[in-house]
Amino acid sequence: MTYESSIYHLLQITSMSDPYFQGLFAERIGGSRYGKGGDIYKFEKIKRAKRKALADHPERKLIDFGIGENDEMAAESVRQVMAREINQPQNRGYADNGIAEFKEAVARMMAREFKVKLDPVTEINHCIGTKTALAMLPAAFINPGDVTLMTVPGYPVAGTHTKYYGGEVYRLPLRAENYFLPDLDSIPADIRAKAKLLVLNYPNSPTGKVATHEFYAKVVDFALANQIVVVQDAAHLMLSYEARPLSFLEVPRARDVGVEVHSLSKGWNMIGWRLGWVCGHERLVRAFADVKDNCDSGQFIAIQKAAIAALDDAEIPRRTREKYQRRLKKLVEALRHCGIKCQMPGGTYFLYVPSPKGVSGGPAFATAEECSQYLITEHSICTVPWDDAGAFLRLSATYEATDEAGEDVLMAETEERLKKLRLVF
Ligand SMILES: Cc1ncc(COP(=O)(O)O)c(C=O)c1O
Repeated sequence: MTYESSIYHLLQITSMSDPYFQGLFAERIGGSRYGKGGDIYKFEKIKRAKRKALADHPERKLIDFGIGENDEMAAESVRQVMAREINQPQNRGYADNGIAEFKEAVARMMAREFKVKLDPVTEINHCIGTKTALAMLPAAFINPGDVTLMTVPGYPVAGTHTKYYGGEVYRLPLRAENYFLPDLDSIPADIRAKAKLLVLNYPNSPTGKVATHEFYAKVVDFALANQIVVVQDAAHLMLSYEARPLSFLEVPRARDVGVEVHSLSKGWNMIGWRLGWVCGHERLVRAFADVKDNCDSGQFIAIQKAAIAALDDAEIPRRTREKYQRRLKKLVEALRHCGIKCQMPGGTYFLYVPSPKGVSGGPAFATAEECSQYLITEHSICTVPWDDAGAFLRLSATYEATDEAGEDVLMAETEERLKKLRLVF
């Protein structure tokens, strides 16, 4: 493009009211069109619909199965350590790549829960939540044209950053007929040749599927055969119901092919505290730590110390697991009474159910999104739609209820509202 034509191009796409930098935004966030699109992010649409439902029907209780965050505070014992440590002058500074005591607590926990022995110095590094680790790991691998294999529906962060670096995302649909596991054999040879990362997430959000030892063994073989690095996102791991939590690193040779990314958010009710860790192959952990060192200066040391108390207390994740398992069982039962086909998820606090095609004598829904919008606007029931691999609704058991009786009242109300609809599948 000549100088004149590029100026002409800029004038065409920017308007007089735009700031001078409108034409400077990078293509990865929309270029000169940034901030002008009418596309609304799914979760923003839900938020708006929730606000409208509350305004239009103040008399009707909003039943919120849309929240993907724990409804409880961190354990009191953990908060007490935090209260003490926040006043310690030695905790005030940059934590950089983390304190040794936190890594040692992670090593103790991984040995206790999974019989996985890790060297705390070389095979573990903290992160400010798994989200940031998933955002940083592509920086260590992805050059323009490289491929990240990612399951969909899923948590998109590693894919977004792959694209930021000029890489491509190859989507592996999680379908009910394949038990919500990716079909690794279906990946074409040219994609396998360009693939550097395989990002998995089990227990899976949003499907609730848990991985088996056999599946992970297959993943290891696949990674070795195709020379691909595995990133297993274990954010929901302590919320496993079908069987005890299974770490990818328990599987022979898993450590030779990848890392597992863990979080204190879900299993320990520490969602806002922003702490997790990356563990696995020493060279991969080091590459992550090097990228991280160029992005942040570590989580507040007082938080890391409070997290040590959390990791050393096996009762905390056990209690969290028990609570969400109880709530999910009640939800499954209530939905079944309304004709929704569903079963207890293997893990996570999400229930993933086929989206109704319509309402008897009422509207038809072409997508889960349409159904979800109808449920929230017309009946004040909030769900999250997924249309990536079939039409499904995700209902979260993280709704607010003060006690078990409160949960029962909410389930009865849900059942009453949904039964009246006579949903069609
Ligand atoms: C699958 C998955 N991975 C990662 C995260 C991020 O968790 P964290 O709070 O550790 O950043 C979430 C949060 O919802 C998630 O659902």
